[in-house]
Amino acid sequence: MKSKWTAEDIPDQSGKTIIVTGANSGLGLASAKALARKGAHVVMACRSQQRGEEALQEVKQIPNASAELMLLDLGSLQSVKSFAEGFLSRYDQLHVLLNNAGIMATPYGTTQDGFEKQIGVNHLGHFALTAQLLQLLLRTENSRIVNVSSLAARNGQIDPGAFRDPKNYKPWPAYNQSKLANLMFTCELNRRLQGHSTIALAAHPGGASTNLGRNLETNAVTRFLAEKILLPLLPSADQNAAPQLYAATGPDAAGGHYYGPGGIGEIGGAPKRVKMPSTLGGREEWERLWAASEELTGVKFALTPA
Ligand SMILES: NC(=O)c1ccc[n+]([C@@H]2O[C@H](COP(=O)([O-])OP(=O)(O)OC[C@H]3O[C@@H](n4cnc5c(N)ncnc54)[C@H](OP(=O)(O)O)[C@@H]3O)[C@@H](O)[C@H]2O)c1
Repeated sequence: MKSKWTAEDIPDQSGKTIIVTGANSGLGLASAKALARKGAHVVMACRSQQRGEEALQEVKQIPNASAELMLLDLGSLQSVKSFAEGFLSRYDQLHVLLNNAGIMATPYGTTQDGFEKQIGVNHLGHFALTAQLLQLLLRTENSRIVNVSSLAARNGQIDPGAFRDPKNYKPWPAYNQSKLANLMFTCELNRRLQGHSTIALAAHPGGASTNLGRNLETNAVTRFLAEKILLPLLPSADQNAAPQLYAATGPDAAGGHYYGPGGIGEIGGAPKRVKMPSTLGGREEWERLWAASEELTGVKFALTPA
């Protein structure tokens, strides 16, 4: 990898179709723009028609950008199914599925299907989406599935029994769990993809100034400090989208690998391959998560485990 890889180094993406989930804000919007600038056709998968349209207009400011909005609410399995059916009816290739959308440390809530909201949106929604697009990904030579995780995965602990009904819900552990699930899903998926040209890989953005903290329950003083002091110090979404863009397009990015910012503490800096956290576990833990995710979502991956 070039030592200072940036979005400028994304290879030509002409002829490629790329889905970005959560493409109307933060890292998703930054990724959509960077990919459109390099010639990809970007399908912006967003849950709000209005926010999606506004973001689409921004992307379309880029000369020759090819992009469209399709509605996707990852907190509803029905919406995931409709999105996948709509996409499959219109496209015969999918080069990259960039599973970027996410929520962080939200107050307790459930998805439409009754899952705890953070595991439901951040992991189960993307799990179901990937399963339903898998055959098309397999038919597209050298396609990639990129899952966006977080440094928070280092503190994650998975308890599939609590995906529906957490006995003792706490916003941060639930976020950490969902981001660890992103990594375990990546590893198990990539393992099952062996023998295919499609790969699964993961990225994390370090810390980036985005809207992710909007749901945090904090007092007015903490909110003021976070918004006026912390956020402006963090790298921009454009800068820290680089690891996920590298995972999505970098010529040397490889299946099962994890990419993050290469600077101190992996908060900022040019992307590099980073270590998976010690919480990742192994095949047994990944398979347990996989089985629970299939059971809860009712989707099955047409892949035979090796
Ligand atoms: N920013 C950071 O420092 C940081 C650090 C580590 C990891 N990450 C990860 O980076 C990813 C992107 O986050 P961000 O920082 O760019 O945050 P953001 O600015 O809040 O963007 C999140 C995106 O996800 C979408 N989303 C939320 N719930 C959804 C749902 N139910 N269905 C479909 N889309 C949904 C949001 O849509 P709406 O606008 O409609 O809500 C928005 O487009 C997340 O996976 C996050 O965990 C971020």
